[in-house]
Amino acid sequence: MTWAVMPAAGRGTRFGSETPKQYLEVAGRTLIEHSLRALLGHPEVDGIVIALSPDDPYWAGWREMEGKPIYTCIGGAERADSVLSALQALPATVSEDQWVLVHDAARPCLRGVDLTRLIAMGQADPVGAILAAPVRDTIKRADVQSRSHLTEAREHLWRALTPQMFRRGGLTRALRAALSAGAVVTDEAMAMERLGLKPRLVEGSEDNIKVTTPADLALAEFILKRVV
Ligand code: C5P
Repeated sequence: MTWAVMPAAGRGTRFGSETPKQYLEVAGRTLIEHSLRALLGHPEVDGIVIALSPDDPYWAGWREMEGKPIYTCIGGAERADSVLSALQALPATVSEDQWVLVHDAARPCLRGVDLTRLIAMGQADPVGAILAAPVRDTIKRADVQSRSHLTEAREHLWRALTPQMFRRGGLTRALRAALSAGAVVTDEAMAMERLGLKPRLVEGSEDNIKVTTPADLALAEFILKRVV
């Protein structure tokens, strides 16, 4: 059985709306409610800790969903601070060796089959695992003048998705090390990689999108109405 943590303390400045994006509504629910139901509706997930902004006026105050407990804590300036804060707020019954899932509030289209596969493959791996999708485009590396000087070998490129699954203790240590070194880590796997560890990439659905722009919101609505 697995606990989950959800960083939801972002202000969504790239989205450009007054309301943080996780509280925008698609297909009859806020993004965060879709994301929560996707996790807590899975039989292997026991409960969740959500990291929120201080004095978040939008949070609905749920204490449980799908019959599972929801705890909250205060997030931090960066995503890694928020995840670390949520890891610390997990119940004491969750041991250092136990697996924890980290899932973005802004990824409402997670499918149960992907979560099942991630949990199975992550538990079989010494480091842990993340959902990821192979890159379909040709990727260019640019110089400071936006001139392409290198084409990356596409067969080795993946887009990191969430959930990402690591042991509570190992992930806590990795995030602390990254933060104290002043490193910007944009996902949990990156914090593990900095310690020389190699998380397994588990192929997930392309449509597990992170809502970042208004166009993503329309796409999420389409995906949620059609398939999830
Ligand atoms: O900004 P980005 O889209 O990468 O955010 C991914 C997730 O991390 C979102 O769910 C957002 O609310 C969360 N986050 C956070 N604390 C921050 C920044 C982002 O919990 N300081």
